[in-house]
Amino acid sequence: MKNKTIIITGATSGIGYEAAIELSRRGHSIIGIGSSTISCKRAAENSSKDFSGNTITFFPCDLSKHEEIYNLANLLYEKYEAINILVNNAGSIFLKKILTNEGIEKTFSVNYLGHFLFTRLMLNKIIASDNPKIINVSSVAYKNAQINDDDLIDPIRYSPMKVYRRSKLAQLLFTRYLGNELSDSRVIVVSMHPGIIATKILSRNERWGGTLTKLFKLIGKSPKKGAQTIIYLASATNNQLISKQYYVNSEIEQLLPHATNDEDAKILWDMSSKLCNLPSDLPQN
Ligand SMILES: NC(=O)c1ccc[n+]([C@@H]2O[C@H](COP(=O)([O-])OP(=O)(O)OC[C@H]3O[C@@H](n4cnc5c(N)ncnc54)[C@H](OP(=O)(O)O)[C@@H]3O)[C@@H](O)[C@H]2O)c1
Repeated sequence: MKNKTIIITGATSGIGYEAAIELSRRGHSIIGIGSSTISCKRAAENSSKDFSGNTITFFPCDLSKHEEIYNLANLLYEKYEAINILVNNAGSIFLKKILTNEGIEKTFSVNYLGHFLFTRLMLNKIIASDNPKIINVSSVAYKNAQINDDDLIDPIRYSPMKVYRRSKLAQLLFTRYLGNELSDSRVIVVSMHPGIIATKILSRNERWGGTLTKLFKLIGKSPKKGAQTIIYLASATNNQLISKQYYVNSEIEQLLPHATNDEDAKILWDMSSKLCNLPSDLPQN
């Protein structure tokens, strides 16, 4: 495969960081997104130590802030001629309810809606590139989630795992809808689950974050292992992959019916478009 330009959100830590390092090692040019200038600077320093010849450029963008997403998209359009692959990997779990500036529950906003907006803003650039691919990082946690709750935006009774599971189901329904919309194009849209991986995903919580992260270390595999399916999907040729499919351990796994429901996927798409002030219809290319 010729060298590609690959965006990885959440590339400053965990699974995204390891995927960025390995894909860089394989000669690709990596655009790594982190939530802040500080985390991007730290990741740039670490990546220089881990692989001195790395080709990762880090950009800060808090995916819970729509204005920052617009600014990043504009910057990337100016700076890069082509974007071949977008890996929507950033994610978090918040033990307490936080609402964003837009009044949206933050787990849903970071893990799903921010990626929805970013993908839509980057889509023309991706469509125009060679062998384009969009890889959405979901989770097996989707299995016990429901999307048609009326408290999606601002849940009254907050449960961290409930909103996390739901954000991951949203990633799958987004994959489904976008894959349907792009079925006549060359773009492959897939989703994946990385495994249970010992990362810092729970660390962004003041009181319990440290303790839970330590406990997670006891049961999770290494972030390097967690990055393998992303690396496989990013490295495969488009002919080797099937759009709208869900990959676990680099193989297709059948989704439960609620994650492939076209009606729910359309309702979520329309609602997300409204929340992001975008038209529901994609522009015809
Ligand atoms: N770990 C698991 O067992 C597991 C299982 C299934 C799925 N996943 C999924 O894997 C993905 C990666 O998570 P991880 O486990 O590698 O966790 P992690 O080590 O905590 O990495 C999360 C990444 O997301 C970024 N991020 C968090 N909030 C953000 C925001 N507001 N704006 C922009 N970026 C933000 C972080 O950036 P900063 O460091 O710059 O804040 C970091 O780079 C997530 O989507 C997660 O749901 C993980």
